[in-house]
Amino acid sequence: MSSTDPRLDMDDAMWRTLNLYHQRIDAERQGSGGPHRHMAVGPAAGRLINLLASSLDAPQILELGTSLGYSTIWLADAARATGGKVITMELETEKSALAKEMAEKAGLADWVDYQVGDALKLLDILDGPFDFVLIDHWKDLYLPSFEALLGKLAPGAILVADNMIRGGRSGGQTAYAAAVRATPGMTSVLLPVGSGLEVSRYEP
Ligand SMILES: C[S@@+](CC[C@H](N)C(=O)[O-])C[C@H]1O[C@@H](n2cnc3c(N)ncnc32)[C@H](O)[C@@H]1O
Repeated sequence: MSSTDPRLDMDDAMWRTLNLYHQRIDAERQGSGGPHRHMAVGPAAGRLINLLASSLDAPQILELGTSLGYSTIWLADAARATGGKVITMELETEKSALAKEMAEKAGLADWVDYQVGDALKLLDILDGPFDFVLIDHWKDLYLPSFEALLGKLAPGAILVADNMIRGGRSGGQTAYAAAVRATPGMTSVLLPVGSGLEVSRYEP
């Protein structure tokens, strides 16, 4: 193990679970994945969201778009390290259940509330405030989700939106970035990490 080996700051169960994901994500990229597509943020973006969420004190973390739970593992690890909690939302029941199984393998399920349904409807019944949000569901939902979230963000909240450079850029991402940047109190930057992350901080 070299001094830069990521295992040095990760427990074995999380490391083994991430490796399982990496094998499946590689298979998916080569066209031989299972019935469900991960569409995962990937290791660099996973590491970055982990690092950002870990810098907060007991953050209430929200994820829109669980898929098979790869990004959730990184967020749950940050929640465990800081006394925080993750709520993650996914439209498809089976995907959410598979994601929860993976978090159990990683020893991280206790830090995650897996919610199934349309994130916009689920958001309606949550008050927040949220300290960290990963936006990674369908791109046409980025802007309406941001609008629904705006009154529910804690001061200092960090928002990360994925697929802002690659991953089927559409009008959805452009509209989202424009709205975030036009919102008073928001500071935002586009980072070429993974498929492109818009990282924003809210200080009203
Ligand atoms: C890009 S994938 C998420 C990848 C995941 N964040 C990761 O990195 O492992 C997008 C997911 O959003 C889900 N989704 C799409 N529309 C949704 C909605 N309205 N509410 C909740 N989830 C939704 C899709 O079913 C899909 O699994």
